[in-house]
Amino acid sequence: MSENMNMAVMASQSDLRRVFSVFPTGVVAVCAMVEGRPVGFAVNSFNSVSLKPPLVSICVARTSTTWPLLAQAPRLGLSVLGAQHGGLCRKLASRSADRFKDEAWTVSNDGAVLIDGAALWLECSMSANFTAGDHDIVVFDVREAQLFDAVKPLVFHHSQFRELMNEECVPTQCA
Ligand SMILES: Cc1cc2nc3c(=O)[nH]c(=O)nc-3n(C[C@H](O)[C@H](O)[C@H](O)COP(=O)(O)O)c2cc1C
Repeated sequence: MSENMNMAVMASQSDLRRVFSVFPTGVVAVCAMVEGRPVGFAVNSFNSVSLKPPLVSICVARTSTTWPLLAQAPRLGLSVLGAQHGGLCRKLASRSADRFKDEAWTVSNDGAVLIDGAALWLECSMSANFTAGDHDIVVFDVREAQLFDAVKPLVFHHSQFRELMNEECVPTQCA
């Protein structure tokens, strides 16, 4: 795809992936205990949605084999992965790997699975589900939150894992 390709002629999914990959995101592990074992997958479609009530969302591919299992769980753990979690993220996206083998995680009283070393833990329950093309937009109520301020988040940009290097914001551009 040329650098200034027109959206109207863009056909392939790989072209579209490249277009969307320009937007840097964090990566979130969505995990819960299902029938006595940890189940989870990685998403970068996480968004905050509402403050009152506290809501967040993810987008789930309608082909996902993991989401139908997680959707049954009363509580889900959403962990904002740390910069050191690139390997774990690949495992949580792999269909062949044992996703939780040799990884450190914690189970809440309600069965949410939270990743140790994450930048943020959210315990959530599903609130709504909207079909949008080949994905579902899933909205969650946030029930509990635990922040780990010292942890740098993993950043996903141009289909690669990166970390934030300069933590100082430019004074005139701070939010
Ligand atoms: C960085 C990254 C971000 C991802 N984001 C999403 C996402 O937002 N939504 C989604 O459905 N799958 C996403 N995936 C793919 C899933 O992690 C997983 O590979 C996919 O759901 C297939 O596995 P499953 O059949 O077990 O669900 C992402 C994968 C990676 C590596």
